[in-house]
Amino acid sequence: MCGIAGYVGKKNAVQVVIDQIARLEYRGYDSAGVAFDGPSSIKVLKSAGKLDRLRELVAKEDPQATSAIAHSRWATHGAPTDLNAHPHFDQANKIALVHNGIIENYMELKEELVRAGHTFQSETDTEVAAHLIGAEFEKGGSLEDAVRRASRKMTGAFAFVVMAESEPGKIVCARNASPLVLGFTEGESLLASDIPALLPYTRRVAILENNQVAVLTEAGIEVSTLDGKVVEPEIFEVDWDSTAAEKGGFEHFMLKEIMEQPDVVRQCLAGRIAGNEVSLDGLFSDHMWQEIDRVNIIACGTAYHAGLMGKTLFEQMLQLPTDVYFSSEFRYGDPLLSPRSLAVFISQSGETADSLAALRLCKQRRIRTLGIVNVVGSSMAREVDRVLFTQAGPEISVASTKAYLAQGIVLFLLGLHIAQVKEMPGVSVSAGVQALRNLPEAIQEATELADEMKEIAEKFAQAPLVFFLGRRADANVALEAALKLKEIAYIPTQECPAGEMKHGPLALIEQGTLAVFGATDPATRDKLISNIREVQARGGYVLAVTTSDDPSLDGVAEKVIKIRPTGDAFLNALLSIVPLQMLAYYMAHARGCEIDQPRNLAKSVTVE
Ligand code: M6R
Repeated sequence: MCGIAGYVGKKNAVQVVIDQIARLEYRGYDSAGVAFDGPSSIKVLKSAGKLDRLRELVAKEDPQATSAIAHSRWATHGAPTDLNAHPHFDQANKIALVHNGIIENYMELKEELVRAGHTFQSETDTEVAAHLIGAEFEKGGSLEDAVRRASRKMTGAFAFVVMAESEPGKIVCARNASPLVLGFTEGESLLASDIPALLPYTRRVAILENNQVAVLTEAGIEVSTLDGKVVEPEIFEVDWDSTAAEKGGFEHFMLKEIMEQPDVVRQCLAGRIAGNEVSLDGLFSDHMWQEIDRVNIIACGTAYHAGLMGKTLFEQMLQLPTDVYFSSEFRYGDPLLSPRSLAVFISQSGETADSLAALRLCKQRRIRTLGIVNVVGSSMAREVDRVLFTQAGPEISVASTKAYLAQGIVLFLLGLHIAQVKEMPGVSVSAGVQALRNLPEAIQEATELADEMKEIAEKFAQAPLVFFLGRRADANVALEAALKLKEIAYIPTQECPAGEMKHGPLALIEQGTLAVFGATDPATRDKLISNIREVQARGGYVLAVTTSDDPSLDGVAEKVIKIRPTGDAFLNALLSIVPLQMLAYYMAHARGCEIDQPRNLAKSVTVE
């Protein structure tokens, strides 16, 4: 995700940009750096670790610059080290650049630059962008011309900010999909990747749109397109306070994180699907996938629920026997592990003590390990044999939402990758890739159900018990939806496969009991309708979530919520979590609960 800042004006520019990135802490930190106009050249100070390390470096130098750019990194390419920290220089050390996002074709661009004699200090895609802009700048024209030409050569979702030694007092930035906000005030110009970093300096802001370039000087900000056509920025006045602004104007991080899921999917897929194929870097050799006879997925909480989705997927799509374990049980269960098995660890934080202990047990037993992890540089990411990052950005709310969705998507990508490598008959990788492409818009539509979910939530906010039911993948999602409700709204839940109800839990249904049915799976539709009837016959109120192409629940359930079909049953089920996350959120809200920090819980559970 990363935080970006830039300032030109009469104040101490380095202090301003460091203050700005401090206000972007919620976007994640693993290293930070600053570049500023020195007396004769651009100077860069940067360091791995928290912002205080950078503050110490700055304090020693006490720079008095009037233009500066800064960055706080949340690693996606390359470990969080001093070398990989931003800003990065071009080949001639005359242009400094900070960047947010992923440049998908950076390997291709890097090879070209290496052939032209460039050498690189870091493993980042960012340094490639700096060199590319430097190479374009040497061809002539202004810094913004070079940025325009280089931007056209890059693919992916990115935003970057540059300054050049030969053009002091000027900062140029460009955007393609990653956020950049401009700040306007008399005699000063600012930019940042999010509004909170601008608020102490100005409330007059404009969002830089995709494929636009902005030039910041003391005299003001000029915005233009990649073709050089000048455009008038739409300046607006921000009236939120800074705490609300950190949350993007949402009342809680949880709601912000639910709502940003369309972008999370884009970010998670970036560089991983091309044409009709999946391309996952850094995995095991193709030969190894032929050898694996069993998968064991090991995780806790929400990540365990994502693991259950993995089991459904791997067994149905790949006919690969898969077990899912709670990390805390796996470790003490003396598990029987085939030497040909693969242990998959799923974790948002990468620091969950139970999962790390289970990982170390697998390593002792010489079992191959793969991590599906959100936090780059975390213990799990470093200790597994191979890692796939979920690329969901920092998750602040204790209740996991966007990380779950990203974990499901990475599992789906992995399933398609294995099918591709094994050339599995009957699995259409291209259909899976197409369904993934449909996902961001389907999720966007699902987030637009917020008002409807709020209305239902308010109606049932005082419910003493809520049921979450489904079959196959929908039953897995039911477990996750129930966990969301209990952890933030403190409402007891009963969750199980719908067919299990008559073996006991049905006894708990009373007049008016809310029963939420995941009903996206057409293969089990008839049986599920029978289960719905069983609940209704005992007075239960049924809320069903299904796809909008399926009318079979109309008139059956008391309330039907429809999501847009993606073209794949697994992804439809995964997507159905979005309205259910909102149901939990709004029920907790109606009950006045502490949503982002529920009682008794912590974001990262580092004790066993
Ligand atoms: O960081 P991890 O994914 O390893 O965390 C695992 C669980 O502690 C976590 O998913 C927890 O269940 C969430 N609070 C649920 O919303």
